[in-house]
Amino acid sequence: MFNLVIFGPPGSGKGTQSDKIIEKYQLKHLSTGDLLRAEKRSGSELGKEIQRIIDNGELVPDAMVQQMVKAFVEKNKDANGFIFDGFPRTVQQAQWLDQMLPDFNTSVSLMLSLDVEEDELKKRLLSRGAVSGRADDQNVSIIENRIQVYHHQTIPVMDFYKKQMKYAKVEGVGDIDDIFKRVCLTIEKYMK
Ligand code: C5P
Ligand code: MG
Repeated sequence: MFNLVIFGPPGSGKGTQSDKIIEKYQLKHLSTGDLLRAEKRSGSELGKEIQRIIDNGELVPDAMVQQMVKAFVEKNKDANGFIFDGFPRTVQQAQWLDQMLPDFNTSVSLMLSLDVEEDELKKRLLSRGAVSGRADDQNVSIIENRIQVYHHQTIPVMDFYKKQMKYAKVEGVGDIDDIFKRVCLTIEKYMK
């Protein structure tokens, strides 16, 4: 299995690049944001709680996301590998993932971080919000809060993988296909 953690601030292109990666390398796309939004749309009590958290740009508790991740991996244990998109968001989640994957005889292969500066992120998120209807992409102060949460809670996850020599950074600005070429070069270095 090849398991990729795709990393980067909100709006860095994780979802866009993941769509291209899964097609080329036949991996399963595990987007925790998509799973959470699906739960939110279901209108369940849990969905309402998730909606409140997402719409404020905060993070859903570790245990709740971890449960979703484990269920997804279990359901797809015959996959060639996974792209973890939007997860792990905290060091606790990263430690948990490192303990969980060996149950499936596998481990994280690489964390690929998409590098995009903050002004560009805000522009991208606002233009996505105008078409997607995502409430958390339409309000500047929520966007700023998400970027703050990223700095405080998620950036430390980078060091976690750096220490394991599993970290690589890719320039995330420019033409989508050019970014994808850089992404592929990096992935293939770690696939050997
Ligand atoms: O990953 P994505 O940017 O799509 O996530 C959207 C929102 O979902 C986040 O801003 C956060 O509120 C929530 N989320 C979370 N924990 C995760 C992934 C997403 O709380 N691991
Ligand atoms: Mg996304």
